[in-house]
Amino acid sequence: MALSQDDLKRAVAQAAIAYVPNDCIVGVGTGSTANFFIDELAQIKHKIRGAVASSEASAKRLQGHGIAVLSLNEAGELPVYIDGADEITRHLHMVKGGGGALTREKIVAAASQKFICVCDASKLVDVLGKFPLPIEVIPMAQSYIAREIVKLGGQPKLREGFTTDNGNIILDVHNLQIMNPVELENTLNQLAGVVTNGLFARRGADVLLLGTADGVQTLKR
Ligand code: 5RP
Repeated sequence: MALSQDDLKRAVAQAAIAYVPNDCIVGVGTGSTANFFIDELAQIKHKIRGAVASSEASAKRLQGHGIAVLSLNEAGELPVYIDGADEITRHLHMVKGGGGALTREKIVAAASQKFICVCDASKLVDVLGKFPLPIEVIPMAQSYIAREIVKLGGQPKLREGFTTDNGNIILDVHNLQIMNPVELENTLNQLAGVVTNGLFARRGADVLLLGTADGVQTLKR
């Protein structure tokens, strides 16, 4: 029987457990693949001290399993951060933020020694940008940022009815062909009013666990 997308997500979530050191505090991402990882983490919760979550939703799921959730300030540097992506290249550059948690994800990733990305095979692309690039924006800057994005060749669309965990809005940018992700990440982050953007290229993943019909493939930077 053919494996479903959820089977592939579960398989990479299980494989990611091997990257969690004993007695550590683990950084945990957001989304459906991260949810599978949280469920796997529950099986080994007696071996870890706790987790730092990249969203309120993940914190709730971790706590539901009886896993201690610490703030990043309490936890300090983390050995590992495990999260999904909306798109990823073979250079392990990513687009993230489909779930709107990009800013906290970028913070927890930055504070971690290793970023392990867990994805099903549909997320692997040659060029980033088919998935609309999420940008978290301070609400008063919405129109200004939208105009600046149009100048950069993108088509911004407000994510209707959505507020981030930080109280901001998301602009999803369509029609970008991102040939230089590091440069675009820097350019967007310099616009006044941008909190962060969903390009994870300056600090990409260190390891990709990719769920395929032939099993879990491991790509390293
Ligand atoms: C949330 C994210 C997620 O990692 C991304 O959207 C992938 O989610 P899923 O595992 O559900 O496909 O960046 O902000």
